[in-house]
Amino acid sequence: MSSPAPASSIIDINLDSLTQLDEVYRYRLLVEAVQDYAIYLLDPDGYVRTWNLGAQRFKGYAPSEIIGKHFSCFYTEEDRAAGLPARALDVAAREGRFESEGWRVRKDGTRFWTSAVIDAIRNTHGTLIGFAKITRDITGQKQAAEELQLARESLHQAQKMEAIGRLTGGVAHDFNNLLTVIRGAAEMLRNTNLPAAKRMRYVDAIAKTADRAAHLTKQLLAYARQQPLHPTTFEVGRCIECMKELFRATTGSSIELLYSLPARPCYVCADANQLETALLNIVINARDAMPDGGRLTIDVSTVKFLPATDHDPATPGEHVAIRVTDTGTGMPADVRDRIFEPFYTTKPPGRGTGLGLSQVIGFVTQSGGRVDVSSDEGAGTSFTLYLPLAEPAGYEDLISSGTDDLSWLKPVQYRILVVEDNKDVGEIVSSMLNDMGQRSTLVNSGGAALDALQNEGGAFDLVLTDIVMPEMSGLELARTIKTRWPKVKVMLATGCNPALSRADAGSFDLLHKPYSKEALVQVIESLKTRQA
Ligand SMILES: Nc1ncnc2c1ncn2[C@@H]1O[C@H](COP(=O)(O)OP(=O)(O)OP(=O)(O)O)[C@@H](O)[C@H]1O
Ligand SMILES: [Mg+2]
Repeated sequence: MSSPAPASSIIDINLDSLTQLDEVYRYRLLVEAVQDYAIYLLDPDGYVRTWNLGAQRFKGYAPSEIIGKHFSCFYTEEDRAAGLPARALDVAAREGRFESEGWRVRKDGTRFWTSAVIDAIRNTHGTLIGFAKITRDITGQKQAAEELQLARESLHQAQKMEAIGRLTGGVAHDFNNLLTVIRGAAEMLRNTNLPAAKRMRYVDAIAKTADRAAHLTKQLLAYARQQPLHPTTFEVGRCIECMKELFRATTGSSIELLYSLPARPCYVCADANQLETALLNIVINARDAMPDGGRLTIDVSTVKFLPATDHDPATPGEHVAIRVTDTGTGMPADVRDRIFEPFYTTKPPGRGTGLGLSQVIGFVTQSGGRVDVSSDEGAGTSFTLYLPLAEPAGYEDLISSGTDDLSWLKPVQYRILVVEDNKDVGEIVSSMLNDMGQRSTLVNSGGAALDALQNEGGAFDLVLTDIVMPEMSGLELARTIKTRWPKVKVMLATGCNPALSRADAGSFDLLHKPYSKEALVQVIESLKTRQA
């Protein structure tokens, strides 16, 4: 306690003890008159030596009741047990000052929230002669801050509920429309007397509608950042070069298109198809915002860090910035705040579903990037997609060879065990595989799959299993097969929920529902290359 005193806490008079302070009458008057602050002196051991009106007012003790008592009686029992009063004096003695906020206790036992400062007082020789303590009751301020926080949280919750309501409503509405088409076409197909051409039309309608439904779920999964991404390393400038024609066709002749692409190639590692979809979504929006024509500028550059936004701080790291700027209507602040919400649209019914920008934000965020938007009513809009800059991988733009030619399938017939608890889905996959010349066996649970494998001595080339099933999950089944029949390939099929992330699937291949013929062809192709 006899360490050198910080200059600020030295009273420049020659005092040996606190009792001499009685002589400083003017100060005493001042301190005693203050009502909103408890101002009092403690001796070096923490015993109360003076008491003012403010202290009496909100701590409840008369001077005669408190002078000579230890100041720890103002602390809560928990704080006393934790040694807080002694620590406060220790810090003040060592560092000259101790500041804190916390609960204190009045004479009547009630608690109040305080902001307190303890200053060490030393004489000119540097000897500690006591402490000055100033305490303020800030319970009201704390309550007001808490209430404000609560109000903010409930507003946020209400906005969230509204967005969820719109999302569920939107999904239900869109899917109902699609289901109506499928249902109607199926009803019509019941009629056995239909001419073949009409039959085909209904079948096409069902297939097309299922594709639209799959597109819808894809956008929703994109928004939920749960879509399966297939990242490759590619050059952004080239990607945009390839899209120029599409942009031209989309925007029409009344919109002038300008490009500013970097001289040096800049690479990103992302899903190229999703980036194209995102850019197209932005360009379509820009076109819609310029009904009387205008100018659309796409420029690509690299930045050393992500600039700060309302929600995010500036973040270091090199990024490729793709900026799409239009000279259209722009947006008022209340629209701009909501554009990324799924199903939020200002377009008339039938013109927009409100999912375009949901895909954009979902894809970019899932790819480790960020989207910035700046827009003012009547002054155009600018969207910037930031994607992390990548090193060129040397095998950029690998394009998988999609093929409709199934002839190579014919000579090889694989035995495929389909495990699917949904009867309709199982039957359709199984018959699609059989139509492709494969031999499929359908079972409806993990247990039944293990029985089939046991009975056949593991003589299957592939087990294609659903992930989410009652009793035994597809993942459990896959692991058991890997141990017992390591030669059997297992593929996990998923309708995309959080349980099916890449990490969870481990070393097993994932196939995403709804199954398309092309996907099944690829499954069989993978068996072929495996055995080659
Ligand atoms: N460039 C822009 N200029 C002005 N408003 C825009 C622009 N881009 C988006 N918006 C506003 O954001 C809303 C949401 O856009 P989003 O792309 O998500 O849905 P949409 O275009 O309405 O429908 P969808 O893209 O599903 O067909 C639009 O309805 C529009 O009000
Ligand atoms: Mg749109």
